[in-house]
Amino acid sequence: MKLLKANQLRGTLTVPADKSISHRSIMFGALAEGTTTVRNFLRGEDCLSTLHAFQELGVPIQDDGETITITGQGFGGLKAAEGPIDVGNSGTTIRLMMGILAGQPFTTTLLGDDSLNQRPMNRVMLPLNQMGARLNGSNESEFPPITIQGTRALSPIDYSMPVASAQVKSALIFAALQAEGTSRIVEKEPSRNHTEEMIRQFGGEIMVKGKEIQVTGPQSFIGQEVIVPGDISSAAFFLTAGAVLPNSEITLENVGINPTRTGILDVLEQMGAQISLTAIDQNNQSATITIRSSVLKGIEIQGAIIPRLIDELPIIALLATQAVGQTVIRDAEELKVKETNRIDATAEELTKLGADITPTEDGLIIHGPTPLHGGNVSSRGDHRIGMMLQVAALLTQEDVELEQAEAVAVSYPHFFEDLRQLTGGDVE
Ligand code: S3P
Repeated sequence: MKLLKANQLRGTLTVPADKSISHRSIMFGALAEGTTTVRNFLRGEDCLSTLHAFQELGVPIQDDGETITITGQGFGGLKAAEGPIDVGNSGTTIRLMMGILAGQPFTTTLLGDDSLNQRPMNRVMLPLNQMGARLNGSNESEFPPITIQGTRALSPIDYSMPVASAQVKSALIFAALQAEGTSRIVEKEPSRNHTEEMIRQFGGEIMVKGKEIQVTGPQSFIGQEVIVPGDISSAAFFLTAGAVLPNSEITLENVGINPTRTGILDVLEQMGAQISLTAIDQNNQSATITIRSSVLKGIEIQGAIIPRLIDELPIIALLATQAVGQTVIRDAEELKVKETNRIDATAEELTKLGADITPTEDGLIIHGPTPLHGGNVSSRGDHRIGMMLQVAALLTQEDVELEQAEAVAVSYPHFFEDLRQLTGGDVE
């Protein structure tokens, strides 16, 4: 499709609900006793994969268009699905469900689309097998379809994670909640903590001390009312657009600001962006964020901040193409095993539009500011690459044609409509 162009962006927007929290609201609701209601659930393809997966495991889930209502079955009430469960493009669904299903007394097969079927699963399978479940990839590989032969007799685990990953951590926590005894999980770097927070919200217990987590099982949860805040990872596209497009001012309401997710705000501030937070709600961990265009400078991004902005790195790379000087991103090798290899995809697609960007083993080096020009680019089936390229297209005079634009529906079905609203009709 031909991408939108704009001279400036102005206005107020409410970004869609948080993807990570939406997934987990279905999982916790299904595993709790009693009813859970979820308001502002993200009806993107990934979270709908989680919703349908639990329906296939015998959990009644209704959606009246406003509220999702889940009739919780408890950890003991899931039923074997009739056939393999297709989780589409969703890494969060497959990895977290592996941890849940490891403790169930039946066998399940989880499979996905071409992208998911090439993503590494040993990071979850190996420790879960150590706990006593039997997980196998397709043809003895670590790739989906994954068959999970669960057991009620899981053993606790003492495990130092070799990767910084909230998906691995969460899968192990879900298994540990079903094992008899105390598990100890040590993170490589602190990653998003929505699973830990929801355990507490649903009446369970978890001990967190720095990078160390202790969970004692078995536990049970009580159904809750969940209200999902907006997704800072979706807000990131507008924060970047507002920062780099002249004469722009964008206000984003109800954005989630859990500190394990706000690395993008730190980066914007360090680059010199004009950004302000108002209406800060500490209970819901949300705020209104306003961004105005300004001159930006290149910075170094590495170490502990990486997991706090892992999904934002493609759009941060675009931001860096408009900053004065050099930006270096290091310690981000995890980008290679996302929906696509995001180091290569970001570098190659932005190079097509004239950016000065070099891929490295664990990140990117970007020089700016560079004027971008038109061209033909592809999302490569990756929602975040697609949205990043649309923001890039705002900066070009010539047309940009995007292949596989439909991928954005994975996390942000109305992305192009929302962006159009901010152009106020000022579209070339
Ligand atoms: C997620 C964790 C991250 C992130 C993904 C969502 C989650 O993946 O990239 O979009 O909800 O736990 P990793 O745990 O593989 O880093």
